[in-house]
Amino acid sequence: MTATLISILAIGAALLLAMVVIGPALFGSPWHPISRKDLKRALDFCEAQAGERLVDLGSGDGRVLIAAAKQYGLLATGIEIDPLKVWLSSFRVRREGVQDRVYIVQADLFDTDYGEADILFVYLTHQAIDKLFPKILEQLKPTAKILCYRFCIRGMTPDKVNADKTLFLYTRNKGARVNQFR
Ligand SMILES: C[S@@+](CC[C@H](N)C(=O)[O-])C[C@H]1O[C@@H](n2cnc3c(N)ncnc32)[C@H](O)[C@@H]1O
Repeated sequence: MTATLISILAIGAALLLAMVVIGPALFGSPWHPISRKDLKRALDFCEAQAGERLVDLGSGDGRVLIAAAKQYGLLATGIEIDPLKVWLSSFRVRREGVQDRVYIVQADLFDTDYGEADILFVYLTHQAIDKLFPKILEQLKPTAKILCYRFCIRGMTPDKVNADKTLFLYTRNKGARVNQFR
Protein backbone atom coordinates (compact mmCIF):
# COMPACT_ATOMS: atom_id res chain seq x y z
CA MET A 1 0.00 0.00 0.00
CA THR A 2 2.76 2.45 1.06
CA ALA A 3 4.89 1.34 -1.89
CA THR A 4 1.98 2.00 -4.29
CA LEU A 5 1.45 5.47 -2.84
CA ILE A 6 5.17 6.27 -3.13
CA SER A 7 5.17 5.06 -6.76
CA ILE A 8 2.14 7.23 -7.59
CA LEU A 9 3.78 10.27 -5.96
CA ALA A 10 7.07 9.60 -7.78
CA ILE A 11 5.29 9.31 -11.15
CA GLY A 12 3.33 12.50 -10.39
CA ALA A 13 6.53 14.37 -9.47
CA ALA A 14 8.26 13.12 -12.63
CA LEU A 15 5.33 14.25 -14.79
CA LEU A 16 5.30 17.66 -13.11
CA LEU A 17 9.05 18.02 -13.64
CA ALA A 18 8.67 17.06 -17.28
CA MET A 19 5.87 19.60 -17.78
CA VAL A 20 7.47 22.54 -15.98
CA VAL A 21 11.17 22.07 -16.63
CA ILE A 22 12.08 19.50 -19.27
CA GLY A 23 9.31 20.23 -21.83
CA PRO A 24 9.90 23.99 -22.13
CA ALA A 25 13.67 23.48 -22.09
CA LEU A 26 13.43 21.05 -25.01
CA PHE A 27 10.90 23.04 -27.02
CA GLY A 28 12.21 26.54 -26.43
CA SER A 29 13.89 27.75 -23.33
CA PRO A 30 14.13 26.65 -19.69
CA TRP A 31 12.31 28.58 -16.98
CA HIS A 32 14.55 31.17 -15.46
CA PRO A 33 12.57 34.26 -14.43
CA ILE A 34 14.10 37.70 -14.80
CA SER A 35 14.99 39.36 -11.45
CA ARG A 36 12.80 42.24 -10.21
CA LYS A 37 15.71 44.68 -10.49
CA ASP A 38 16.53 43.69 -14.06
CA LEU A 39 12.86 43.74 -14.99
CA LYS A 40 12.57 47.42 -14.05
CA ARG A 41 15.81 48.19 -15.89
CA ALA A 42 14.53 46.34 -18.96
CA LEU A 43 11.19 48.14 -19.10
CA ASP A 44 12.88 51.53 -18.58
CA PHE A 45 15.43 50.67 -21.26
CA CYS A 46 12.86 50.14 -24.02
CA GLU A 47 11.18 53.51 -23.33
CA ALA A 48 7.72 51.95 -23.42
CA GLN A 49 4.77 54.30 -23.87
CA ALA A 50 1.50 53.72 -22.01
CA GLY A 51 -1.02 51.96 -24.24
CA GLU A 52 1.57 50.04 -26.27
CA ARG A 53 1.24 46.26 -26.51
CA LEU A 54 4.09 44.22 -25.08
CA VAL A 55 4.27 40.52 -25.89
CA ASP A 56 6.39 38.27 -23.66
CA LEU A 57 7.61 35.19 -25.55
CA GLY A 58 7.50 32.54 -22.84
CA SER A 59 5.81 34.50 -20.08
CA GLY A 60 6.62 32.18 -17.14
CA ASP A 61 5.02 33.32 -13.89
CA GLY A 62 3.69 36.52 -15.51
CA ARG A 63 5.99 38.96 -13.71
CA VAL A 64 6.92 40.85 -16.91
CA LEU A 65 3.27 41.19 -17.91
CA ILE A 66 2.17 42.38 -14.47
CA ALA A 67 4.95 44.98 -14.16
CA ALA A 68 4.34 46.19 -17.73
CA ALA A 69 0.62 46.69 -17.04
CA LYS A 70 0.85 48.01 -13.49
CA GLN A 71 3.89 50.24 -13.62
CA TYR A 72 4.04 51.29 -17.28
CA GLY A 73 0.37 51.28 -18.34
CA LEU A 74 1.06 48.81 -21.15
CA LEU A 75 -1.26 46.19 -22.60
CA ALA A 76 0.51 42.89 -22.15
CA THR A 77 0.18 39.49 -23.82
CA GLY A 78 1.97 36.40 -22.56
CA ILE A 79 2.66 33.32 -24.66
CA GLU A 80 3.46 30.32 -22.50
CA ILE A 81 3.58 26.63 -23.40
CA ASP A 82 3.42 25.20 -19.89
CA PRO A 83 -0.20 24.93 -18.61
CA LEU A 84 0.93 25.10 -14.99
CA LYS A 85 2.68 28.43 -15.53
CA VAL A 86 -0.33 29.69 -17.48
CA TRP A 87 -2.52 28.84 -14.50
CA LEU A 88 -0.09 30.37 -11.99
CA SER A 89 0.43 33.57 -13.99
CA SER A 90 -3.31 33.98 -14.64
CA PHE A 91 -3.90 33.65 -10.91
CA ARG A 92 -1.23 36.30 -10.19
CA VAL A 93 -2.70 38.62 -12.83
CA ARG A 94 -6.12 38.43 -11.17
CA ARG A 95 -4.61 38.89 -7.71
CA GLU A 96 -2.83 42.04 -8.93
CA GLY A 97 -6.07 43.32 -10.50
CA VAL A 98 -4.64 43.80 -14.02
CA GLN A 99 -6.78 41.26 -15.86
CA ASP A 100 -8.25 44.04 -18.05
CA ARG A 101 -4.77 44.78 -19.48
CA VAL A 102 -3.10 41.36 -19.45
CA TYR A 103 -3.92 38.42 -21.67
CA ILE A 104 -2.16 35.06 -21.37
CA VAL A 105 -2.33 32.41 -24.05
CA GLN A 106 -1.25 28.82 -23.69
CA ALA A 107 0.57 28.36 -26.98
CA ASP A 108 3.86 27.54 -28.64
CA LEU A 109 5.81 30.75 -29.18
CA PHE A 110 7.15 29.36 -32.48
CA ASP A 111 3.58 29.06 -33.75
CA THR A 112 2.30 32.51 -32.78
CA ASP A 113 1.68 35.61 -34.87
CA TYR A 114 3.25 38.78 -33.45
CA GLY A 115 1.63 41.28 -35.81
CA GLU A 116 -0.09 43.15 -32.94
CA ALA A 117 3.06 43.68 -30.86
CA ASP A 118 4.64 47.10 -30.26
CA ILE A 119 7.30 45.58 -28.01
CA LEU A 120 8.54 41.98 -28.04
CA PHE A 121 10.13 40.93 -24.78
CA VAL A 122 12.55 38.09 -25.46
CA TYR A 123 14.24 36.16 -22.68
CA LEU A 124 15.09 32.94 -24.49
CA THR A 125 18.24 30.96 -25.29
CA HIS A 126 20.28 31.62 -28.42
CA GLN A 127 18.99 28.35 -29.93
CA ALA A 128 15.38 29.53 -29.55
CA ILE A 129 16.19 33.04 -30.83
CA ASP A 130 18.00 31.58 -33.87
CA LYS A 131 14.85 29.61 -34.67
CA LEU A 132 12.68 32.76 -34.52
CA PHE A 133 14.86 35.35 -36.26
CA PRO A 134 14.98 36.73 -38.89
CA LYS A 135 11.73 35.07 -40.07
CA ILE A 136 9.59 36.62 -37.33
CA LEU A 137 10.54 40.12 -38.57
CA GLU A 138 8.18 39.63 -41.52
CA GLN A 139 5.23 39.60 -39.09
CA LEU A 140 6.17 42.68 -37.08
CA LYS A 141 4.90 46.24 -37.43
CA PRO A 142 7.50 48.59 -38.94
CA THR A 143 7.59 50.45 -35.63
CA ALA A 144 7.95 47.38 -33.39
CA LYS A 145 10.75 47.22 -30.84
CA ILE A 146 12.45 44.00 -29.74
CA LEU A 147 13.93 43.92 -26.28
CA CYS A 148 16.27 41.00 -25.62
CA TYR A 149 17.46 40.14 -22.14
CA ARG A 150 20.80 38.35 -21.68
CA PHE A 151 20.81 36.75 -25.16
CA CYS A 152 21.16 38.97 -28.23
CA ILE A 153 19.90 38.21 -31.73
CA ARG A 154 22.84 36.81 -33.67
CA GLY A 155 23.25 38.53 -37.04
CA MET A 156 21.30 41.68 -36.09
CA THR A 157 22.82 44.93 -34.85
CA PRO A 158 21.06 46.35 -31.78
CA ASP A 159 20.18 50.05 -31.71
CA LYS A 160 21.00 50.19 -28.03
CA VAL A 161 22.96 48.02 -25.58
CA ASN A 162 23.22 48.72 -21.85
CA ALA A 163 26.54 49.06 -20.00
CA ASP A 164 26.70 45.50 -18.66
CA LYS A 165 25.53 44.05 -22.00
CA THR A 166 22.45 42.29 -20.68
CA LEU A 167 19.86 44.38 -22.53
CA PHE A 168 19.69 44.65 -26.32
CA LEU A 169 17.12 46.85 -28.02
CA TYR A 170 16.35 46.40 -31.69
CA THR A 171 14.04 48.71 -33.58
CA ARG A 172 12.86 47.82 -37.05
CA ASN A 173 12.41 51.48 -37.97
CA LYS A 174 11.58 50.36 -41.48
CA GLY A 175 9.70 53.53 -42.42
CA ALA A 176 12.60 55.79 -41.42
CA ARG A 177 15.08 53.73 -43.44
CA VAL A 178 12.86 53.77 -46.51
CA ASN A 179 12.54 57.56 -46.19
CA GLN A 180 16.32 57.95 -46.17
CA PHE A 181 16.41 56.79 -49.79
CA ARG A 182 14.13 59.55 -51.03
C1 LIG B 1 13.79 32.10 -19.51
S1 LIG B 1 12.08 31.86 -19.07
C2 LIG B 1 11.50 33.55 -19.14
C3 LIG B 1 10.23 33.78 -18.35
C4 LIG B 1 9.73 35.23 -18.35
N1 LIG B 1 9.68 35.79 -19.68
C5 LIG B 1 10.61 36.08 -17.46
O1 LIG B 1 11.42 36.86 -18.02
O2 LIG B 1 10.51 35.97 -16.24
C6 LIG B 1 11.43 31.14 -20.62
C7 LIG B 1 9.96 30.77 -20.57
O3 LIG B 1 9.58 30.30 -21.87
C8 LIG B 1 8.68 29.21 -21.74
N2 LIG B 1 8.76 28.43 -22.99
C9 LIG B 1 9.75 27.58 -23.39
N3 LIG B 1 9.49 27.08 -24.61
C10 LIG B 1 8.31 27.65 -25.01
C11 LIG B 1 7.53 27.52 -26.22
N4 LIG B 1 7.92 26.76 -27.25
N5 LIG B 1 6.39 28.25 -26.30
C12 LIG B 1 5.98 29.04 -25.27
N6 LIG B 1 6.67 29.18 -24.11
C13 LIG B 1 7.83 28.50 -23.99
C14 LIG B 1 9.20 28.46 -20.52
O4 LIG B 1 8.19 27.64 -19.95
C15 LIG B 1 9.60 29.64 -19.61
O5 LIG B 1 8.51 30.04 -18.82
